[in-house]
Amino acid sequence: MTRIFSGVKPTGHLTLGNYLGAVRQWAEVDQHRAESLFSVVDLHALTVDHDPGRVRRLSRQAATLLLASGIDPERATVFVQSHVDEHARLSYLLECVATDGEMRRMIQYKEKSALERARGGSVRLSLLTYPVLMAADILAYGADEVPVGDDQVQHVELTRDLAVRFNQRYGHTFVVPRATYPKVAARVMDLQDPASKMGKSGDAGAGIIYLLDEPDVVRKKILRAVTDSGSEVEYDREAKPGISNLLEILASCEGGSPEGLSGVYESYGALKKDTADAVVEMLRPVQEKHKELVADPAYVEEVLRRGAERAREMSRPTVDTAYRAIGLLPPVDEAR
Ligand code: TYM
Repeated sequence: MTRIFSGVKPTGHLTLGNYLGAVRQWAEVDQHRAESLFSVVDLHALTVDHDPGRVRRLSRQAATLLLASGIDPERATVFVQSHVDEHARLSYLLECVATDGEMRRMIQYKEKSALERARGGSVRLSLLTYPVLMAADILAYGADEVPVGDDQVQHVELTRDLAVRFNQRYGHTFVVPRATYPKVAARVMDLQDPASKMGKSGDAGAGIIYLLDEPDVVRKKILRAVTDSGSEVEYDREAKPGISNLLEILASCEGGSPEGLSGVYESYGALKKDTADAVVEMLRPVQEKHKELVADPAYVEEVLRRGAERAREMSRPTVDTAYRAIGLLPPVDEAR
């Protein structure tokens, strides 16, 4: 059976981008067709300046939102990355396979390190090595597929390279995974700046829709979205980035294609209104379920406890095999 691994990092509140680009697919499609693991990858939240209490709160909230989005813990393994030691254990071995040049070529590293430096801050070493930890997340489980948004594709490519290199040098150990991404809304853009990705850690939030935004807030943000010159509602990401982003969001909510919606609307205002309605309706059940789950923290904790247990069992044998393959001496009781 196909195995799937994916994750979300608790650096901010989950956004519409996370949902349309990844989480909804996990809940609606992936968990039904494959053996799936979905993780709140909290170690990744430590690569930039962070507040410990906030990371803990956001981790709990992200896990709760995965369940509220319809991920069923009876079908999929839902867990917190730091509860399973194998990720960090494998990451070090992969650091011994990856190269410094490879890490410095990662787009997210270039962008985020430039931002940190511009703010006058220092760049954590873990920001550079982050994609290796991500590779470990995936390879530890022998995942065949990694459903992600467009911005993570380069990291999955790196994961493939590391898996192939390790296998060639030390014998077949890892499954070589591939990224999958949704046809529509693989890169949802910021409503105030359609040239940039809608990201959790974006600044003001006016261009970002959070999954827990109240309906009137969602409406306001969409109605105030930046649009383009002209008045035709056409799908053209180059010439009309603002309108095309709204068309993608609407198409994704309705399960259609943005090209199919091209020419259907007579004004920007009408498109915005329908997009706002569609997003509000799509988020309503997620928000209701989230409210129920927040009232039952013991349930969420138990899901995470069982998830971590299962994840440990699934990852341990592969990581042990990698330790032996690379030349590390087995502990004495295992060697006997
Ligand atoms: P993260 O937490 O930034 O995002 C989680 C998922 O949401 C997708 N996504 C988007 N999709 C469309 N439009 C957007 N604006 C948008 N913003 C985010 C991301 O592509 C991602 O699929 N490095 C990863 C977390 C990670 C991971 C892994 C993922 C760590 N280990 C192993 C897969 C497998 C990240 O930062 O995702």
